[in-house]
Order: sequence, then structure tokens, then C-alpha cells
Amino acid sequence: MSDAPKKLHIKTYGCQMNVYDSERMAEAMGVQGYTLTDDPAEADMVLLNTCHIREKAAEKVYSDLGRLRPFKEAKPGLTIGVAGCVAQAEGAEIMRRMPLVDLVVGSQNYHRLPEMVAAVGRGERPVDTEFPAEDKFERLPERPVQARPTAFLTVQEGCDKFCAFCVVPYTRGAEISRPVARILTEAEKLVAKGVREITLLGQNVNGYHGDGPDGSWGLGRLVRALARIDGLDRIRYTTSHPNDMAEDLIAAHGDEPKLMPYLHLPVQSGSDPILKAMNRKHTAEDYLRLVERLRAARPDLVLSSDFIVGFPGETEADHQASLDLIRAVGFGAAFSFKYSPRPGTPAASRTPVAAEVADARLQELQALITAQQKATQLSMVGRKVGVLFEKPGRLPGQWVGKSDYLHAVHVTAEGIGPGTLAQVRITASAPNSLAGEVL
Ligand code: 5AD
Ligand code: SF4
Repeated sequence: MSDAPKKLHIKTYGCQMNVYDSERMAEAMGVQGYTLTDDPAEADMVLLNTCHIREKAAEKVYSDLGRLRPFKEAKPGLTIGVAGCVAQAEGAEIMRRMPLVDLVVGSQNYHRLPEMVAAVGRGERPVDTEFPAEDKFERLPERPVQARPTAFLTVQEGCDKFCAFCVVPYTRGAEISRPVARILTEAEKLVAKGVREITLLGQNVNGYHGDGPDGSWGLGRLVRALARIDGLDRIRYTTSHPNDMAEDLIAAHGDEPKLMPYLHLPVQSGSDPILKAMNRKHTAEDYLRLVERLRAARPDLVLSSDFIVGFPGETEADHQASLDLIRAVGFGAAFSFKYSPRPGTPAASRTPVAAEVADARLQELQALITAQQKATQLSMVGRKVGVLFEKPGRLPGQWVGKSDYLHAVHVTAEGIGPGTLAQVRITASAPNSLAGEVL
């Protein structure tokens, strides 16, 4: 460890798994004496933790790297690293295209960052994107005291589903579940360090099948075991595939009060021919029946989803079928994306939908979702909901937290701090948050 404090700037793109990975990278470099900075100008090391899911996200990395050039010129000792899924997919190409990059580290290798930075110090340009034999989680430093009452915990990585549009099975590899005991230990430690809400992460999290003390456990059983940890108040998980929603997990939504009533369950499309072309292996009807079973278990469950518009071959009728599905479900929120061809995926070679058609469909679909989101928020007004407070708001005396249903909630009240879990009466709905009063 060097004595002069060094500064690390991390920019995170994409999903919550990357947010988690960035935190763990910061902790690994923290042991080497690096503290975090929001300002790349004062950094000794800049890490871009990248996303490859859509073309725009991947291309942004190259333009952001270009923007780092003046910082590198001003401070030649600045170490620039690329991590995450673009690193995984195009490691060598990044090095060719961007001479200012000093290291490229894949998603399974970042426990080796300190060694790689040392190699950069010796004038090397290391690229480490192999899927290693060792488990990075076992090599990373223990998690420090948590600044926030909420934390992510990776339980599963990779995806075996091979949806025809998606790079994840290639960038994140085959599904691997962490053993039950290690997850329980990590959760207990997080709780001991002040965490009250844990979001279990996995690219296909409900496909979790980890080694337990008596054979393989599914996610439902894992959730129930986590719920027994005293001091842990809330459990969430993301992201799920409809076909892996096991009976026991659905039941847990009904009888495990710590499992929060919000579920992100991507469907991608409401048209059966498109779902088939996407290799989703379920129909729109299957999804609707699943939503019924979930709501039978937990009537107030708020659902969110992901949609892709303009998938190759999508007709106006297919698009209308997606709108029908959205109307039938009533989502609390949803993300929608214009289809983006990804190199190496089966759909990339198919004939695309005209851009202006896809744009118009995206707008129409987003307008419907926005209306549903607004309706869901309005339905909260007058209700009493649990809120876990995280941080002070912008106004004096104001605090911001998340409701059980994952809405941001603002209150102005005394005696609240990070980690306060309170019952709040919702009094108003703003575009992206709710206001309430503590009961
Ligand atoms: N084009 C557009 N959207 C995509 N997604 C994944 N791959 C693509 C792609 N090639 C979306 C899916 C997924 C979310 C994380 O990103 O909706 O659920
Ligand atoms: Fe990608 Fe999700 Fe399909 Fe896996 S299940 S291939 S991560 S969209």
C-alpha cells in the first residue's frame, strides 16, 4: 500500500449488477489506499464499468474514453481501466482502438485489479477477460461498513436462456449460482454493518440453484432463509425470467412479509410469434397466467417489465399485442427499448424494422406505460406504506426513502435517519416520486 492517498473515479453504465461490481471494485482498490472521487480531473485512476446490452451503451464507452484524453495528457500517471461487459466482449479491440487505456478487466476477474494496476506501474497493458477457475467473491476483501441501509448481493451470474436479441449469455457466460452458505454469511455481515434491505442480484436471478446444506436450493428457499436474519427487514430480487418463477417463490410473495411486493418480470413482447422469434419459450398467455398466480399470492404486488419494440419481423399487429398485454397487466413501471442488433446474437442477421416505425411504436408504448405508472402512483395516495429512509432530501428537514413498492417517498419529519423504517401515509404523487407524512 502506498502512503499518499490516491483517488479513484468509477463511472458505471447499465444494470444493477454493474453497480454492485463497481462497489466491489472500489472496495478492492480501497484496500490499496484508493478513495472514491466524483471528479475525474482529480483522479489517479479512472475505471469505466461498461454495458454491452445495446449499441448505444457500448459506443458511449468509446466516446467517454475519448473525453478522458485531456486528463491523461494533464496527468500522464493517470491509470485508465475498462471493466464490465464491453471489456468482456471487446477487450483486445479496446486496447487497439484506445491507446490511452491501461488495463481491461472482465466481470469475473476484477478481484485481480490490484495486481493489474501494479502491472500497469511496470509499463504493461494487462487484459484479463478469461472466465477464471477461482471464485472472485472468495478473493475480494470483506465488505466494509455500508454507507446506505440498502445493499445489493449477487447470488447468481450469467444466463443460459439465449434470447435471440441478447448478449448477456456471451458477455456474462453460463449460469452460476453461489452456494447458500456464502450468501447467508455475506447477508449477515451486511446486516451487521447497518444494511436493512438486500436486493439479490442475478442476470437470471430466479433461476438460482445454489448448493445448500441438503442439496440444491431454489430462490424461494434462499429468500426464506434470508428472511430469518434478525435486523434484515426487506428482501428484493432482480432480474427474473417468467419461466423460472417456481411455485415456492410465488408462494413466498404471499407468506414472507420481508419479501417486498414489487417484482421486475421482463416479458419483452406481447405477441406470440415475436416471443417465439425471440426464443423466449413462453407465450403472452403464459405470462398473463403467471401474473394471475402472483397476484393471487400477493394481491397488491406491483409489477414492472422490459419491452423491446421493433424486433425483426414485428408487425403492427404484433405491436398492438404488446399494448394489449400492457393493458391487461397494468404495470407500475416498465422499461422499453428500441431493438438494437448485437454482434454475435441470432437476431442480428435478421431484417430490421424501419427506424421511424420502431420510433413511433416506442413512443406509443412508452406513453401507455407512463399512464400506468401515474395511475399506480396515484393509487398509493391515501394509503399507509412502509418506507425505508436512505438520505436527506433537498429541502431542510426533508428525508427520502423507498416505499415497499419501490417508489421514492419524500417526507419532512424529525427523528429520521438513514435506515429508519417507518409507516408513512402517502399524501401526494409527483411525476417520479410520492410525498407523505410519517405516522
Ligand atoms: N436491443 C434492445 N433491447 C435489449 N435488451 C436486451 N438486449 C437488447 C437489444 N439487443 C433489453 C431487454 C432486457 C433489458 C435489460 O434490455 O428488454 O430485458
Ligand atoms: Fe438476456 Fe435476460 Fe434473455 Fe438471459 S433471460 S438472454 S439475460 S434477456
